[in-house]
Amino acid sequence: MTVIKVAILGFGTVGEGVYRTIESHADDLEAVLGKKVEVAAILIKNKQRERNIRKDVLVTTDFEDILNLPKLDIVIEAIVNKEPTFTFLQKAIERGCHIITANKEMFAHHGKHLIALANEKSVSVGFEATVAGGIPVIQTLRQLLKINRVQQIQGILNGTSNFILTEMREKKWSFAEALLQAQKNGYAEADPTNDVEGFDAFYKAMILSRIAFGEEPNWKDVEREGITPITSELIEAAEKLELRFKHIASISKEGTQIQVTVKPALVGKENPFYHVEGVENAVSVHSDIVGRITLQGPGAGMFPTASAVIEDLAYVCQNNNIKRNFNQTVSAELEQKKGKAKEFWLITGLSKNVIKPSITCIDEISNGVFVIRADKKDLDNLGKLDETISYFPILGEFESEVVSFEEKVSAL
Ligand code: HSE
Repeated sequence: MTVIKVAILGFGTVGEGVYRTIESHADDLEAVLGKKVEVAAILIKNKQRERNIRKDVLVTTDFEDILNLPKLDIVIEAIVNKEPTFTFLQKAIERGCHIITANKEMFAHHGKHLIALANEKSVSVGFEATVAGGIPVIQTLRQLLKINRVQQIQGILNGTSNFILTEMREKKWSFAEALLQAQKNGYAEADPTNDVEGFDAFYKAMILSRIAFGEEPNWKDVEREGITPITSELIEAAEKLELRFKHIASISKEGTQIQVTVKPALVGKENPFYHVEGVENAVSVHSDIVGRITLQGPGAGMFPTASAVIEDLAYVCQNNNIKRNFNQTVSAELEQKKGKAKEFWLITGLSKNVIKPSITCIDEISNGVFVIRADKKDLDNLGKLDETISYFPILGEFESEVVSFEEKVSAL
């Protein structure tokens, strides 16, 4: 029986999880693939650290040692940053290896190039672990929704942000305490700015956009905001309204334009994201035949991410010609109600001298935190005038009585 030889680049949370899962599920892999899967080499950064790795595995700090192995079938990448990762993976493809990556930043930037190169060399690229941790959303879109035309995708795509928001609400932890715990649990990126400022979710949204619509918006046109403006006070005000803050990426096609936003929003109990708590992620795909499907599961952590990688391992070994790919897809326009009604918003930092008649005050929830009804463009204009204003859309149905505008803002 031939053996499938694998190299793992990186031995952090993800790399170690992948190594341990290949060991623990060796029989399952052999049963599915008809061949043994063997980790031949691991690329590490620091030779001094003690690691629990079998003695026959080559452990090296030099990628060339890995490329020079006499037999190598799959390179699994679990490092951070775009470089040298991109270079390593190009070399691996040139050598004829399938590649699997968990690196969303690198893949959002260079995925198209890697897939084109892989097609040239007749090898496969697995990237399930780049989006939503253990949730198999990439393969759902690539393999199981090939005929459906995707209209919209919405998702909670960053486990760290969702964990922080949940812990701040449930345990009354500070932002800093919740972030520290997310780091201890192995959820956060090496630089957690990527998580809490929405960059990580942005990269994931770009990857989803490519799969669903075959293209991405101009990155500069994407509205990206993280969870840092959300204070404990705002979370409490939202609770009074039975609403929860969620960090939501939204991807749709309107006309020929791909529209993507990555930012916090408020959701009520009827919204599938309301109960997505802690490190969980959820992705809701709206397609023309099936309607709306929501997938939910762990969005970060050692074994959820290893699960995505190990399923990719089976996929790249068995890959047949998958049509829904980065470069080839069908899509349907989301039927937008043009000239749509004003939306509801939770807003803080509003001062009397910037209030416009186009803004309807609905209620004051707590000191200085209001529910209002307004057009987004009016709020964006206000936000440009006064940077202390923070406003968050309330998604879905929201019912509340309009309270006299003058009465409610007179206290300001
Ligand atoms: N830091 C990422 C998150 C890891 O918290 O979602 C999974 O991509």
